[in-house]
Amino acid sequence: MHKVFVTRRIPQEGLDILSAAFPGLEVYADDSPISRDELLNKVRGKDGILCLLSEQIDKELMDAANTLRVIANYAVGYDNIDVVEATRRGIIVTNTPGVLTGATAEMAWALLFSVSRRVVEADRLVRKKGFRGWEPMLLLGEGVSGKTLGIVGAGRIGQAMARMSRGFDMRVLYFSRSRKEDFEKNLLAEKVELDTLLRESDFVSLHVPLTQETYHLIGQRELSLMKKTAYLINTSRGPVIDEKALVETLREKKIPGAGLDVYEEEPVLAPGLTELDNVVLAPHLGSATTETRRNMAVMAAEDLIAALRDERPKNVVNPE
Ligand code: NAP
Ligand code: GLV
Ligand code: GLV
Repeated sequence: MHKVFVTRRIPQEGLDILSAAFPGLEVYADDSPISRDELLNKVRGKDGILCLLSEQIDKELMDAANTLRVIANYAVGYDNIDVVEATRRGIIVTNTPGVLTGATAEMAWALLFSVSRRVVEADRLVRKKGFRGWEPMLLLGEGVSGKTLGIVGAGRIGQAMARMSRGFDMRVLYFSRSRKEDFEKNLLAEKVELDTLLRESDFVSLHVPLTQETYHLIGQRELSLMKKTAYLINTSRGPVIDEKALVETLREKKIPGAGLDVYEEEPVLAPGLTELDNVVLAPHLGSATTETRRNMAVMAAEDLIAALRDERPKNVVNPE
């Protein structure tokens, strides 16, 4: 009988599928993250693990789990996994693409509106009894309709976010490695260099995976290219932005604001970030809808089971 470990409680639908297939299923039951030591201990002797993006699945862990055959990541991004090392050892890595595309694109919009129309600042003001009646100059923000949206990384989520801009009659620019002809046709999107996108966009939204090439893709120089009136939205991965440089840029009001769902050293934030009024901060909630998390749980569970039955999982990151 295969031994499987789930590193945190996920929606019941996924756990039910797994425990039907593996009666001895082990699930880490605490309501807080598993410690590194306990993780290393728990993966010993397992054939499969279902893990979170916040857990480093590296060489040390694979040494501890020397019978491991499948790593099912409960996320689409897999920068937490040493995929080269897993592949070298013949371990299958799966992820959860597609089912979270809409939810994450919607979160990017939620942040975009929250920061540009100052919804969170407004809420804080009302709660501290600062609402004195309608005022001509109270909490003025910037509008969205007819503006330019710059998508960095025109994959599933980036394109979905751009599609949602249609109702706002926006011009869409994108920066990606390859050309997306359907995207260009359907949305009149224009492929441009990153510098052009930064110079011309009113809203810059990041959707690249975290890789060696995208680490600090947005640093001091890139931030300084942005319009003085442009907002930065990040629902991709924290290290895509040089967070210290962003704090400086926001503090000096070189851009009016940013909406962030992800951070360089989660859950730790760069010094000064929480003191700024012109940033909206979410705790990595991109895929956090009931339906999406349920679908991710089922997808990860089914792929893990397929891998251990020597069938081909639907979402393999390392097909080689
Ligand atoms: P995807 O379909 O693979 O899209 C990523 C796109 O980024 C690809 O189309 C790729 O472009 C582009 N890209 C990769 N490297 C690049 C580079 N060096 N320069 C320019 N473009 C580059 O992935 P997705 O499903 O949209 O997810 C994107 C990322 O969002 C995930 O990797 C994850 O980190 C993050 N995410 C976050 C949350 C959250 O909770 N906040 C939720 C889901 C996902 P080409 O196609 O041109 O090669
Ligand atoms: C979430 O951040 C994911 O990559 O699924
Ligand atoms: C605002 O509430 C308006 O009526 O203009």
